[in-house]
Amino acid sequence: MKRYLKYIKPYKTAFILCPILMMVEVLGEIVLPSLMARIINDGVVPGDVSMIFKIGAMMIVFILFMAAGGVGGAYFGAKASINFAADLRKDAFDNVQKFSFADIDKFSTGSLVTRLTNDVTQVQNLVNMMLRMLLRAPGMLIGAVIMAFVKNAQLAMVILFIIPFLIVIIVIVIKTAFPRFQILQEKIDKLNATVREAVTNIRVIKSFVRGDHEQEKFENANSDLKESSLRAFRVMITTMPLMGLAMNVTTLAVVWFGGKQILVGDMPIGDLTAFTTYVVQILIALMMSSFIVLQSSRAIASARRINEIIDCKPDITDDDAKCPEATVERGEIEFKDVSFRYYKNSEDPVLDKISFKINAGETVGIIGSTGSGKTTLVSMIPRLYDPDAGSVLVDGIDVKDYSLYNLRESVSMVLQKNVLFSGSIMENLKWGDEEATEEEIKKVAGMAQADGFVSSFPEGYEMDLGQGGVNVSGGQKQRLCIARALLKKPKILILDDSTSAVDTATEALIRKNFKEFCPETTKIIIAQRITSVIEADKIIVIDDGKIVGIGNHAELMKNCEAYEEIYLSQMDKEVVS
Ligand SMILES: Nc1ncnc2c1ncn2[C@@H]1O[C@H](COP(=O)(O)OP(=O)(O)O)[C@@H](O)[C@H]1O
Ligand SMILES: [Mg+2]
Repeated sequence: MKRYLKYIKPYKTAFILCPILMMVEVLGEIVLPSLMARIINDGVVPGDVSMIFKIGAMMIVFILFMAAGGVGGAYFGAKASINFAADLRKDAFDNVQKFSFADIDKFSTGSLVTRLTNDVTQVQNLVNMMLRMLLRAPGMLIGAVIMAFVKNAQLAMVILFIIPFLIVIIVIVIKTAFPRFQILQEKIDKLNATVREAVTNIRVIKSFVRGDHEQEKFENANSDLKESSLRAFRVMITTMPLMGLAMNVTTLAVVWFGGKQILVGDMPIGDLTAFTTYVVQILIALMMSSFIVLQSSRAIASARRINEIIDCKPDITDDDAKCPEATVERGEIEFKDVSFRYYKNSEDPVLDKISFKINAGETVGIIGSTGSGKTTLVSMIPRLYDPDAGSVLVDGIDVKDYSLYNLRESVSMVLQKNVLFSGSIMENLKWGDEEATEEEIKKVAGMAQADGFVSSFPEGYEMDLGQGGVNVSGGQKQRLCIARALLKKPKILILDDSTSAVDTATEALIRKNFKEFCPETTKIIIAQRITSVIEADKIIVIDDGKIVGIGNHAELMKNCEAYEEIYLSQMDKEVVS
């Protein structure tokens, strides 16, 4: 609860005004039935028209106050809860941005999306409801009971009789509905995940003609959600008539006993109208309370899910960095006995005691079958993951001792699953360097062999890429990603299979440009084709998380069987094709 104070503080006026204004409304609700009784007793029955007007005018004043209270309360309640939720969402989102890759794996993207949207909305609804009803419901209940007693203590006993019965119903509702609402929330998670996956990957789904399958998956999730919603709301639905019945019986009893009293002249007629209104108000107050409790149980489950995000200490931080001021100057890399597992309890490590050294400015190729651990290996350099054992040094300093900003600023990694964002090509390239001039951008695009095709677009660098960069081909996208990485002027450039969709001739030109324009940058090139790395100063051959060979092409051909095998198999293909 304490943690939420900081979201309340900036909007304390709204947080205070809302319940106060709602109390004005309650006050009106409590007073109006009495005035109604007086109009009947003192105006209608004796036929006193001026009295009717006098009390009527008073009622109008009260109604106006009530309306003002109601509208104001709703306004401030909405303002307070919406701002509260926006700040909460922002904090959660900011922390997600600090997550390491491992943290994201842990939560899964789908669940993060639900937590940031639906769960926050649940909490927002509760805040709004609390502000508007937390004082109002008991205020109305107590007010109505007191007024009933003041009017006629004997008759009020009838109401007291019904209240315990209603409370029992409410407790039963909460007990049965709570677990059902929890299940409901999980089903929403599932549905969100299905929709997200289907919509983001609609192109793949279409090309595999898996539309029907996805539809079926969606329908399952959807009907699951429907069923559990029905299950949850069925409880509410069955209790409504039950409560209604109880209240109608009470009203009937009130009219019965009240009627008798009226006949013998113990009670004025008007009081009976007031009385029945109080009975209804008591019902409403109890219903409101049950809603609050239900919404609370739902929102508490959501709050817990949000707290998990906010409290998650990103497992990669630079809090313990020993030289936060240091920057990467040369780009020398050394791995010392690095071991790593994605799942800490799995048996085989993904990287097994990897050691090697790369001098500044060298070009190094990494070759190995898929799943051998190439991507994992290079992820250790910009600290996308941290090794379980051993250490990674850049310029002789452990990567953990740099500030994350300084480290990542000097290491450009073109990811295997690279992405462009919606926006123009120019905007996308500027991710590498906000301040870059058009000339610089054209230069790096030229180096990555992207300038040619970009200039051929009618809008050139201003062309919009569409979400995820759908408007360009795979090979073009890869070249844009390389250009974006080059614009950072990195000391270390890592290309993770980044030219797989680029033809060999263009790829050779890109390599030539690297040599010519950034000779001092350390370049690590992960590739499937041996031709991509054949000229490298060093080639690291990796298999099943272990280094099986290291050296230049000629050396490896002599003393690394695995390398020779890959080479021969690829050369065979070249001859055939
Ligand atoms: N985020 C991840 N979570 C769990 N396992 C992973 C993850 N990424 C990769 N792996 C596993 O680690 C191994 C090495 O993967 P990777 O480094 O991507 O290989 P490569 O790049 O050589 O194809 C594979 O067995 C892969 O299934
Ligand atoms: Mg890979």
